[in-house]
Amino acid sequence: MHHLAFSSIASLVLSASVVSLASAAPLDINNGRVTLQLNIDLGEDAVGANAVAGDQLFAFSSMHLTQASPDQVVNGTELTGGLAGASGTFNFGINSAANMICYNITLQNFQGDFDSPATTATHIHEAARGASGPPRIAFPNPEPVNGDAAVRNSAGCLKGPFTTGVMVENKDSGEGFHVNQIEANPAAFMADVHSSLALPGAVRGQLA
Ligand SMILES: *[C@@H]1O[C@H](CO)[C@@H](O)[C@H](O)[C@H]1NC(C)=O
Ligand SMILES: *[C@@H]1O[C@H](CO)[C@@H](O)[C@H](O)[C@H]1NC(C)=O
Repeated sequence: MHHLAFSSIASLVLSASVVSLASAAPLDINNGRVTLQLNIDLGEDAVGANAVAGDQLFAFSSMHLTQASPDQVVNGTELTGGLAGASGTFNFGINSAANMICYNITLQNFQGDFDSPATTATHIHEAARGASGPPRIAFPNPEPVNGDAAVRNSAGCLKGPFTTGVMVENKDSGEGFHVNQIEANPAAFMADVHSSLALPGAVRGQLA
C-alpha cells in the first residue's frame, strides 16, 4: 500500500472516482456531524496528476499529518515534556473554501483524564515549535477503540465558526479563526492533547 506524503500535497481533490479506487466504507451523517471512513490508497500517479474527476464529494485543499510525542510539550517557553510513553497521530484534511477541517486522531497509551479549560482537551493551537499559544480548534476527545483505552481514536469534520471555550481578551480563542491560516503557515500551528497527569500537554506535534 502506498502511503500519502501529506505534506507534499499542495492540492488534492478527492472525487467519487478516486474514492472508488480505495475501499471506501460508509459515510454517517448524524445530527449534523459527518463521520467519514475512507481508506484511500492513491498511487503516486493519481496524486501527481492532482486527481479530479466526476462528482466532487469531498475536496481537501491540503492535508497535514503530525506525529505527536511527549518530548515536544512546552509549558510557556520551557520544554517540560508531556506524558511518558504516550504518542499520537494527528491527520487533518482541510477544505479552505468551506472553512472545514476533517480529523483522524489516534492516541496510544494516553493516561489520566482529559483535562483542559477548553470545551475539549484535544486541540490545534497557534504556537510555533518551542512556544505556547492559544487553542484555535477543539476536537472531540479520542475514545477507546474496541474498549481498549490504550488506543483511542476521534475522527470526523468540523466547520467554522469555531469556538474553544477559552477566553482570550474577552473573546473566544476560536472566534474569527479560519483554516486557511493553517494553510498559510502550518509551522505556526501544533496539535496536542492535555491530560490531568500532564496539564501542559500529554503529547504535541507541530503541523510543519
Ligand atoms: C483513521 O486512521 C486509521 C489509520 O491510522 C484508520 O484505520 C481508520 O479507519 C481511520 N478512521 C477513519 C474514520 O477514517
Ligand atoms: C506550567 O504548568 C503549570 C501547570 O502544570 C502552571 O501552573 C504554570 O503556570 C505553567 N508555567 C508556565 C510558564 O506556563
